[in-house]
Amino acid sequence: MRYFTSVDDIGPLDVAVKEALEVKRDRFAYSHLGRNKTLMMIFFNSSLRTRLSTQKAAMNLGMNVIVLDVNNGAWKLETERGVIMDGDCPEHLLEAVPVMGCYCDIIGVRSFARFESKYDDYNEKILNQFIKYSGRPVFSMEAATGHPLQAFADLITIEEHKTKKRPKVVLTWAPHPRALPQAVPNSFAQWMNAAGYDFVITHPEGYELAPEFVGDAKVIYDQDEALRGADFVYAKNWSAFADPNYGQILSKDRAWTITSEKMALTDNAYFMHCLPVRRNMIVSDDVIESDRSLVIPEAANREISAEVVLKRLLESL
Ligand code: CP
Repeated sequence: MRYFTSVDDIGPLDVAVKEALEVKRDRFAYSHLGRNKTLMMIFFNSSLRTRLSTQKAAMNLGMNVIVLDVNNGAWKLETERGVIMDGDCPEHLLEAVPVMGCYCDIIGVRSFARFESKYDDYNEKILNQFIKYSGRPVFSMEAATGHPLQAFADLITIEEHKTKKRPKVVLTWAPHPRALPQAVPNSFAQWMNAAGYDFVITHPEGYELAPEFVGDAKVIYDQDEALRGADFVYAKNWSAFADPNYGQILSKDRAWTITSEKMALTDNAYFMHCLPVRRNMIVSDDVIESDRSLVIPEAANREISAEVVLKRLLESL
């Protein structure tokens, strides 16, 4: 595996999950792989879980790690080619990326959707420049349209907790005060479809995700109907994808917040969220604190999904 940006890069999911559970049983079994190898983690946006879990995964594999917060201590980067650089960006991404590639063996990139151009966001303009110009294996630590390390961790978590071969998994939109990207729901949908679960997406009208991510999922606009009989409820906010409202907030309706009354409609479902989460906007205190909440096991499995991905990238060197 040379790149990891979507479910298509990881191969058969049953093999990937089996590998993840093996790594989880002995996370230092491959510590020889990363000896004298350097991971560079580039952050254009803030992070708690991705930064810590990916660094821990790299350490498990024996790697050295360099972390760069582009917005804190680095030269501000111009990303548009052809721009006369007489503004506040002293360096261009087209020089900075190959320079970063000189100092490492593998590069991880976090770069959210900017909501300035749907075309640029959905063509993964920043991530693809690292793939094109760094000369190194590159993996997404959440990009404009996807968060595959999160979705892989979510899949591992569901596989560890499911009690039936094909559980009902519901992805539900929930309200949030700020406009968030579609990356997490896109990837979650992509990975749940690939896993072959009974997968349902529910959201208010206007919040339809891109068809290539929705795939064969059932879309139900009535949240209560969607939640009935669910085994797993995955709550997440996202902004509108469809034109002309791309990146906009269309609703803050707290009737969509996941509460114990909503969870009572399910088949004693587990509650999931990628974190960070806005309590009592996305989910009520009692649901996230309940013994059916998987938010901490999901976060713990971020170390495992990152370790499998880094292991495979190291094996490709
Ligand atoms: N879930 C997730 O990616 O968390 P961070 O934004 O803290 O990395």
